Amino acid sequence: MRRPLGVTVHRYIVDSQRLHPEATGDLSGLLNELIVAGKTISAEVNMAGLADVLGMSGKTNIQGEEVQKLDEFANRTIVRRMARSGYLCVMTSEEEDDIIPVEEGYEGKYTLAFDPLDGSSNIDVNVSIGTIFSVHRRLSKEGQGDIGDLLQPGRKQVAAGYILYGSSTMLVFTTGHGVQGFTLDPSVGEFYLSHADIKTAERARYVSVNTYNQPFWQKNVQEFFEMINRPDKSKGRPYSSRYIGSLVADFHRNLITGGIFAYPRDTKDSSKPYGKLRLLYEAAPLAMLIEQAGGRAITDDCRNILDIEAEDLHQRVPLIIGSKLDVDEAEEFLSR
Ligand code: AHG
Ligand code: MN
Ligand code: MN
Repeated sequence: MRRPLGVTVHRYIVDSQRLHPEATGDLSGLLNELIVAGKTISAEVNMAGLADVLGMSGKTNIQGEEVQKLDEFANRTIVRRMARSGYLCVMTSEEEDDIIPVEEGYEGKYTLAFDPLDGSSNIDVNVSIGTIFSVHRRLSKEGQGDIGDLLQPGRKQVAAGYILYGSSTMLVFTTGHGVQGFTLDPSVGEFYLSHADIKTAERARYVSVNTYNQPFWQKNVQEFFEMINRPDKSKGRPYSSRYIGSLVADFHRNLITGGIFAYPRDTKDSSKPYGKLRLLYEAAPLAMLIEQAGGRAITDDCRNILDIEAEDLHQRVPLIIGSKLDVDEAEEFLSR
């Protein structure tokens, strides 16, 4: 649905709902609640550097409130708001080992998986971080949801997106009808449509991978990255390297400009044989977004991220995601 740039996200969501007469408005309500949580986190993120300056670095701040680390703050902000939204039956967060129940009497028909703050290592150094979210329809009939409602393949997501706390705060999401980007005007607290129907370039410009993990990658992955960095005018190679250690920021830049991001499996840490990134609230939502934008997302053993049946809430998967032609090339090379 094409809408003029500048339309507010609330107006966009209401108009989109009109295209689906059968819609109850619950998904719209869910997204709007998430947006409120995102604005709250954005305000706190923009203050983060002041925590020490304003004497809030101790156990209690000047208002006598307990200071929470930013990712704990983000987690609590989302859990509190969404648990009583009435749209969810169960949640899972990177910050909580087990499933998160919703408030009794507020059970709804969707589930939410989220990374409250992606890029935590960048919080104290003022580099972009973000919140990633994934929404499924519940499978269980009624009442409190269970882990089975959460362990669904990414292909079944009804919505996916992120809020990027960068030089500006952006909301990027899809409900399966294209990818829309909204930019926050903090002076009025409104998200305005700034990037309509985002399509990612077929060919990458940037490669985003932690090259210092290279000695720990599988041999064919090492060879693939050597190959794509060889000059090849017909493919605009060599590309440039851009890797800032916040998946959501690296993903967003590549979505807008064209790029390929990878976090392959490595032997560096035996506790993480499949790399660092999690399926339910990092790889799967970004995979839905990139496919909606014309790109692709696979594992380093050539499975489509969206087809993977999750077996564990915090299951890690190797991830190669971005411009279609480069991910196709990775798939062809790594399947040999
Ligand atoms: P999180 O902060 O949610 O744990 O995620 C951090 C992830 C991801 O954002 C980023 O791409 C990756 O960690 C960086 O890992 P390395 O520092 O190992 O490259
Ligand atoms: Mn993360
Ligand atoms: Mn995180």
